[in-house]
Amino acid sequence: AAEISDDLTRVLYTAEQVQERVNELAAQIDADYQGRDILLIGVLNGAIMVMSDLARAMDSHCTMDWMAISSYGSGTKSSGVVRILKDLTTDISGKHVLIVEDIVDTGLTLSYLVQNLRSREPATLEVAAMFRKPGAVTAPVDVKYVGFDIPNEFVVGYGLDYAGKYRNLRDVATLSPHIYS
Ligand code: PRP
Ligand code: MN
Ligand code: MG
Repeated sequence: AAEISDDLTRVLYTAEQVQERVNELAAQIDADYQGRDILLIGVLNGAIMVMSDLARAMDSHCTMDWMAISSYGSGTKSSGVVRILKDLTTDISGKHVLIVEDIVDTGLTLSYLVQNLRSREPATLEVAAMFRKPGAVTAPVDVKYVGFDIPNEFVVGYGLDYAGKYRNLRDVATLSPHIYS
């Protein structure tokens, strides 16, 4: 039977390595926020895994809200067009907001989002991203909490998709070119 692993070339981070790094980020966030309530804003769909693990690794109180925003569509390259597909359900003014993302690639999604959320006047606004591709940043964005800097390759797993698939892969791995070429 076809399995996810058939489509991968190499594992960059195992599920255990990812979880260990998430725990470190959570400890850092707990220390920085000093017991203040945090509003975590997850960016659908990619952030679902890191949101769920990060929130549970934190000792601080938090609430969660979600935005759906897309820059990729279904391909492997950013289209450069950022669209809000679903807005927040809560008012973030005066709140300590932490945006949670799976990956910063070009930075277009986050730079748009930071600008958009800043105009709603949160008390503080920071970003946590599990992965960052430093080589590909065309719109620089200040990411306070970064899990791993990764090479500029097409990676999947832990929320990262290709054409909507592979998000449920527990490891983070490179996708075999025969899948997307
Ligand atoms: C991916 C990823 C980030 C964004 C990063 O989302 O989850 O949100 O692209 O790319 P950028 O830095 O070049 O903007 P995508 O638009 O694929 O939607 P998804 O989260 O539903 O997969
Ligand atoms: Mn995304
Ligand atoms: Mg995607």
